[in-house]
Amino acid sequence: MRVYAVKDYREMSRKAANILSAQIISKPDSVLGLATGSTPIGTYEQLVEWYEKGDLDFSEVRTVNLDEYKGLDKENKQSYYYFMHRHLFDRVNIPQEQTHLPDGTNAEAEKECRRYEELMESLGGIDIQLLGMGHNGHIGFNEPAEAFAKETHCVDLQESTIQANKRFFESAKEVPRQAYTMGIGTILRAVRILVIVSGEDKADIVKKAFWGPITPQVPASILQLHPDVILVADEAALSKVTEKL
Ligand code: F6R
Repeated sequence: MRVYAVKDYREMSRKAANILSAQIISKPDSVLGLATGSTPIGTYEQLVEWYEKGDLDFSEVRTVNLDEYKGLDKENKQSYYYFMHRHLFDRVNIPQEQTHLPDGTNAEAEKECRRYEELMESLGGIDIQLLGMGHNGHIGFNEPAEAFAKETHCVDLQESTIQANKRFFESAKEVPRQAYTMGIGTILRAVRILVIVSGEDKADIVKKAFWGPITPQVPASILQLHPDVILVADEAALSKVTEKL
């Protein structure tokens, strides 16, 4: 694993955007695996800025997102579809049909998960997967569990995740109880994985996930076994790490 220790959220965002830009420039039809949440917003902003300057071209890029709430339609402002369009897709020259997320409106979970796995395969797999990380070590909606989930699946959200995500909804009651997410196996098949983490509140989990034992109780810990992981984390997020970086 390569670790980039950066000063703050802004630097983390610039570094992550740099790495994604390099990928797009060296392979214009790259398949980018993308994430939502508050951590990647600055990264997307930076990519949009460079696109506006004429330094980046998204016309051949394909994207697949990690996850989507089950039961929310595309117009719902809390859907990840809406988030991605607002922060990235509507602001760069990526053709809409080259952007993909699990379809939260498909009630048939098994079919939807199979469709999404087949879609990723038909795109030739993910070149680089961007990941944020939850306070319990979740990646995508892969929550702490007894075993690592292999493929895209439908999950019941844990109470802690519902509580963490309720800030985006009117109340905790409005937060969907289920979501579709790439599995850990799906994520590990990406050629390269780019994890971004910021803030002191993530310091404990960064230490556990990347310097602790590999366990499904800390889903992100499995990333230690991937041959090409880049961790971009700010000083606050790395503040509990005692190992030399
Ligand atoms: C979102 C996702 C989640 C988030 C995680 C961290 O697509 O996959 O695993 O990355 O919940 O969220 P933030 O960035 O809001 O702390």
